Amino acid sequence: MLEVLQPTEEPGWVLAHEGYSVLTESAVESRFALGNGFLGMRASRSTGRGPTWASWLGYIRWASWPRCYVAGLFDLPNTEPPVPALVPVADWSRVRLILDGEPLVAREGEVLHGLRRLDMRRGLLLSEWTHRTPAGITASGHELRLLSLADRAVGLQLQRIVLDRDGIEVRLEASFGLAGLGMEPVRLESDLGAWRTEGTGKVVAMAGAASLNLNDVSLRPERPFPLRWVWRWRSTAGEVAEFARLVAVARADRSAEDPAPQATAALERSTAVGWRAILQEHEAAWDAHWSDSGIRIDGDDDLQRALRFAVYHLTSAANPDDDRVSIGARALTGDAYFGHVFWDTEIYLLPFYTAVWPEAARALLMYRYHTLPGARAKAALCGFRGALYPWESADTGVETTPESVLGPDGKPIEILTGKMEHHISADVAYAVWQYWRATGDDDFFRDAGAEILLETARFWASRAVAEADGRHIRGVIGPDEYHEDVDDNAFTNVMARWNIARALEALDLLRARWPDRASTLRERLALDESELDDWRDAMGRIVTGLDPATALYEQFAGFHALKRLNVSDYADHALPIDVVIGREQTQGSQVVKQADVVALIALLPEAFSGHGATINFRHYEPLCAHGSSLSAAMHARVAARLGDADMALRYMRETAALDLDPDPNSAGGIRIAGLGGLWQAAVLGIAGLNLMGEALELDPKLPRTWNRLTFKVRWRGRSVSLSLARDAVEATLIEGDAMDITIAGLTQTLNARSPLRVDLSSEALPSVAEVEA
Ligand code: BGC
Repeated sequence: MLEVLQPTEEPGWVLAHEGYSVLTESAVESRFALGNGFLGMRASRSTGRGPTWASWLGYIRWASWPRCYVAGLFDLPNTEPPVPALVPVADWSRVRLILDGEPLVAREGEVLHGLRRLDMRRGLLLSEWTHRTPAGITASGHELRLLSLADRAVGLQLQRIVLDRDGIEVRLEASFGLAGLGMEPVRLESDLGAWRTEGTGKVVAMAGAASLNLNDVSLRPERPFPLRWVWRWRSTAGEVAEFARLVAVARADRSAEDPAPQATAALERSTAVGWRAILQEHEAAWDAHWSDSGIRIDGDDDLQRALRFAVYHLTSAANPDDDRVSIGARALTGDAYFGHVFWDTEIYLLPFYTAVWPEAARALLMYRYHTLPGARAKAALCGFRGALYPWESADTGVETTPESVLGPDGKPIEILTGKMEHHISADVAYAVWQYWRATGDDDFFRDAGAEILLETARFWASRAVAEADGRHIRGVIGPDEYHEDVDDNAFTNVMARWNIARALEALDLLRARWPDRASTLRERLALDESELDDWRDAMGRIVTGLDPATALYEQFAGFHALKRLNVSDYADHALPIDVVIGREQTQGSQVVKQADVVALIALLPEAFSGHGATINFRHYEPLCAHGSSLSAAMHARVAARLGDADMALRYMRETAALDLDPDPNSAGGIRIAGLGGLWQAAVLGIAGLNLMGEALELDPKLPRTWNRLTFKVRWRGRSVSLSLARDAVEATLIEGDAMDITIAGLTQTLNARSPLRVDLSSEALPSVAEVEA
């Protein structure tokens, strides 16, 4: 077993954390979390920890926050206000080691050595520890944990334990901790448990198997209780105990369904092949993912590591086989935001999936299709037509944003995003269009995507009220959540116009290519010509806040008149600026929480003509306080596009630091949107990849310090490998038919026989040469 417990040797693939500090432990548990899109697990130490249960903790903290999650397992806990949240499932990794009757607990005795490593290449959490107990016994352990990427139902834990003494009475207990917290048990059998959520009636089944070998001889466990295994033996110094545990999990969304047979079948599958095969298949699955989505940066080891970390978590977060769930703001790595899904998914994560893992992108968009009824209901409730997606979404598509939270003084603060942050509907439409343009997945477009486009466009037309000087979208919150209840947020309005334009285009396309589908859809949606006229009117007359004289968008009506504030004066504060200067002053000032007009430059560059993008970026970038983990990455992407590589790198490094540095803010889970944004900064920013054009487009602006950037993308059924140096781009068609590719403005055909090399060195038009195949 020892050989598999060693991390990948090649440098740059392994993140390590030594020792323990209560201040950063929760963040480490998030950073090193495991996931496969169906299951998630924080990187809590499995051995040597005491029990954890929910209780009021005002002045002290949990030494560790072990959590296992199942995607989509939401229920309504008894909070005020009530907010649907992910229910944690049994923590199947806990191991208790009891030596001469004394449990080994990290806080007692002396931890001589403790190391956790995230092997990103193999998708493994590897730990080692040496502990001297108060009785003077030295125990050391090695551990491996994984959530299988080859069979998403399955998790594996291996442990190797050695003691330094003879004659110790050893008792090793493997259990499923916290089982039933927040759920009622419906089935408990020797190797199987099933629990049901109280309110939503979902059922989760977990099956387990465990074994222990002592010096290669298998030891029979006692089974005092379901899902608990106990072994006892008398120690010999240096003797090796090897423990292996498999878990298999299944979820059912209706209480009438029984997921137990599925979990049992997955467990049987795994035990039949054995842990070595489980590990091998998992590693092979990671290998295949790295081959498709890995990014290589030659010349910047820090950002290389950060991008690997980003791709590691992005790969861990999605599940192409389940289109009833989406990715929460902290993925399945922590409790913050209750597992809720925000615009983060469509705007910050989807480009990655669309470009390198379209099957996952499709499932994520189908989640929005399945939750259209919730979005329609929300629009109707607010007095609008069409589909208004919830700002925060869980499993049903009903709005789940808390109506209030408690402020630092214990008083409730009303949360308005759920009522006013409407740009989400255009964000979903944007992701739908981008996915379809990049993949050419016509089935999705015809059967699901077009309906999302039409229903969101219908919402915007009903939302934009005609007044004497144009149509207005009043009373919203834009991406800059520091300013609430504003009129005509430029990001929202321009995205709304774009959304309507794409819906009209989609309808034309449906009529031309699938006339039957077009007419049934129009009939079902009761979409008549007069309504389409109204859409056309809205598309042309929604005000945008663009001043043609200055080329500047006003972030919202009245923004320019707010007090100017020197935002950089507050940059060194540990607290966000709105906390430092207070809510009222923030709202009265030109201080922006996160990329807002800047995000518009990234998403719709065509909305900025001439030097418009630069003018707006130079205006808004200094006003941004980056009060959200989404912000710096979007600034990096735009800075890169505008040719400011130094600034792009600075913002990329800031984003990388969010979850890689010992930042206690990661305690509630990794900030996955920041990680998706980091990928975008490199691929959509620096490489200038555009997924929405007629052909695959690339317009690289490599920083001086980078020698080469290499990655692959999928494009309309093909796989293309791209290698970018400062003076040339090479494109190779790995799979699929010949295609057009536009590199630095020049379009040509890429075919399987001959890779393309485009020379970027001349100032004028790039010269084109074909490389020998
Ligand atoms: C940001 C939102 C984001 C949310 C979840 C907030 O702080 O302002 O834009 O969607 O966090 O990540």
